[in-house]
This record gives sequence, structure tokens and C-alpha cells, in this order.
Amino acid sequence: MSKLAAFGGTAVVPRDRRHVDWPLVEDEDRKAVIDALDGARLVSNSDGANPVSTLEEHWARKFGFDHCVAVSTGTAALSLALAALGVGPGDEVIVPALSFIATGLAPVHQMAVPVFADVDPVTFNLDPDDVERRITARTAAIIPVHLHGAPADLDRIVDIARRHGLAVLEDAAQAPGATHRGRPVGGIGDAGAFSLQVTKNIPTCGEGGLFVTGNAELAESVRRGRQFGEVIERGRERDYVSYGLGWNHKMNAIQAAFTDAQLTRFDDYERARQRNVTEFLARLAALPGLRVPAALPDTTHAWHILRFRFDPAAFGLDAVRPEALRSTLRRLLRAEGVPMSQYQLMPLPEQKVFVDRVGFGGGYPWAVTGEPAAGAGYPAARAVIADSLTLQKRHLNPGSGGLLRLYADAFEKVWANADMVATLAAAAS
Ligand SMILES: Cc1ncc(COP(=O)(O)O)c(C=O)c1O
Repeated sequence: MSKLAAFGGTAVVPRDRRHVDWPLVEDEDRKAVIDALDGARLVSNSDGANPVSTLEEHWARKFGFDHCVAVSTGTAALSLALAALGVGPGDEVIVPALSFIATGLAPVHQMAVPVFADVDPVTFNLDPDDVERRITARTAAIIPVHLHGAPADLDRIVDIARRHGLAVLEDAAQAPGATHRGRPVGGIGDAGAFSLQVTKNIPTCGEGGLFVTGNAELAESVRRGRQFGEVIERGRERDYVSYGLGWNHKMNAIQAAFTDAQLTRFDDYERARQRNVTEFLARLAALPGLRVPAALPDTTHAWHILRFRFDPAAFGLDAVRPEALRSTLRRLLRAEGVPMSQYQLMPLPEQKVFVDRVGFGGGYPWAVTGEPAAGAGYPAARAVIADSLTLQKRHLNPGSGGLLRLYADAFEKVWANADMVATLAAAAS
């Protein structure tokens, strides 16, 4: 048994193997950006084709969406989508208790109240039973998040929404390319939102977002919303008239050109990622007490983030707090060169902004609806946060296969020292 790096042994992942580029910037990306600067129209509100409208067309065609509207960020896509769906003051929107903060903030941007529902302990996505429990007369929409790239249980969520007359807005920020029963996520509910933020599976060189829908009216509404409420039509001079509430959430042409170039390589990257991650997870699945991420049947996981849960009982540590085992494993794996980290330190409803209700002043939007129903709970979200760690970004690079094999070696080395893990975790508990 080799000595753990945390105690002076040699780390499994050598220092010069630890850095992995993401995003990959190739000559065609550079050329696309320069071409945009040199010749193309730099704004999305110009008449005729421009890098933004080209990306919208290519994204829609690639994944099979009817309409795509490019905006400044994934958060803007969520907010504009809720506005287009008619969500506003007095409404409640059900969102998962485990997600990135933007999912919970988007309803607040529309003066609606986010109502958090617990997640499934295996997929980490909305638990449909808890969604149903939290529906009230004020509920207007549900935002299922395809967290980490794993499709949410859309069969049940869409069914619940239809029975209760609610809109479904898919937060697919982490899941471009993921499919649910053969259909791309984002296009199954009423609308979907993607993020192109630089760490995402299909990135831009900065910030960006995309709204998709099968509903032409919703698409038009988001198009107006991103552009001060104006209507921009081909062949008609801009008249600067606002036909409804609008923001300035337009996408930058350079960022659109960069993503459009990245999109042409997505299938190759995705194939490599599926192969690399599948091999990696197959090795880790053999380790006792380690639960590898999994997708629902008949879905494809986009593997944006890999989340691993740890079971103290497998280390003979039934009485030990899961957080103690988690922090012990974090320390030992990081020493071996595996950059394990936490993703979300608390359930979303425990974020300060929601606890202190820091909205628009005067207690708004919460002052409109009063106390949202059934605020407590979220045992699954809480347990997942307590006993899991994530691996982010490194595995996105299509050339990461060798690195993932080293990561698997490191996990196996740490597990071979299970007695030491148990001693340290017990001491930390
Ligand atoms: C689940 C989820 N929703 C929404 C967003 C917001 O996207 P953006 O950062 O582009 O605003 C993110 C970004 O990380 C996300 O992970």
C-alpha cells in the first residue's frame, strides 16, 4: 500500500499534469472572432444576418429547437423567459433546493417568490412528489434544473404542470446536448434556458445565454424583452418604440461568433467526454461506499459536473458525521492531485438572500404573497451537500482520458488506505 501524499507520499497526479485547458481555443475560434470584428455586424439589432442570428439559427438546427433567442447570460434567459411566460408579482415559482443561485434569483427578478422543493437523492434533480406538495393557488411555473447535465424527471414534472395549469421552464444551463427520451433537454417544457458562460460544456469567451422554445409568441416576447421592448423586423427601419417592458440583455457578436465556432466541434468533444467519463465512473463504481453519478433510464447525461456521494458506513463509520468523511476525503484526494470541491455549500433556501429576503426593498417580492408554503425540509438536498464532493471542468476537455485514469488511481490509493480514512474522519467528527 503506497503512502498517502497528505503524509509525505508521492502524489498520484504529477504537478505538470494537473492543469487542463477549458475552453479549448483553436485557430477556427480565433478566426471567427477576428472575422466578427473585421466584417460582421456587431449588434444583434441590425437588419439582416449577423453573428448573433447565425448562432441562434445553428443552435436551433443542431439540437432541434423551433426558436432560439440569444441573450447576455443564462440568468437573463431565465428571467426573460419567466417574464414572457407571464410570471410576475403575486406568483410563486417552484425551483429545486439544490441548484446554482441564478435559478432561485430569476423568479425574484420578476417580483415572484421562489418556492423550493427537495431533490432526488440519486439524480440531484427536482423530486416530483415534493413539487406536487408545494403547489398552491399562487404557483405559476416550475423550473426543473438539469443539474450537472443530468436530465430531470420531465415525464412527471410536465404531467404535474399540465394537471395544475403551470408553465415549465427548463434550466438547461449545465446540460446542452443532454437528452430525455431521445429529445434534447430545453425543448420539452414550454421553454428552456442555456448558459454559455465560459466553464460550460459549450462555452463562449465570457458570458452568454440562449432561450429556446417551441412557441413563436414566447420567442418574440423574449426577443422584445432583450431589446428594450422594441420590435426589430427584417427590412424595417428601427423605430425605437417600446411595445412592452424591456431590458438590455443582448448578446455580444464576438461571443456569438466564438460559440458558433465551438459548436462545430461539440459532437467530437461530446463523444470523447462520454467515453472518458464512462470509463472513469466504471472504475470508481467498484469502490465500496462511493456512489457515482447516474442518469435516469432513457436519458443522456451531459456530464457537466461529476458529483460523488460517500457512505460513512462503508468505512465502518456509522456514527460519524458525513461532513467529517467528506472533508477527510477532500483533503486526501486533493493531496493526490484530484481537485475535488464542494458545489453549493447549502440548500438554496438557506442562501442569505432568501433567508434575509433581500429583494426590492420593503420586503418585496415576499411581501406580496406572504409566507410561502412549507418552507422547511429539503432532507435530500441537505444530505447530498453533506456527503458529496464534485469534480468540475477537468473532464470536459476531450483529451482528459489519461488524467481521469490518474484520478481513478488516486481514488483507489485512498480507498486502499481505508483504515487511515476512518481514523481521520472519526477524529474530525
Ligand atoms: C443551473 C444554472 N442555472 C443558471 C445559471 C446561470 O447562467 P449564467 O452564469 O450564464 O448567468 C447557471 C450558471 O452557472 C447554472 O449552473
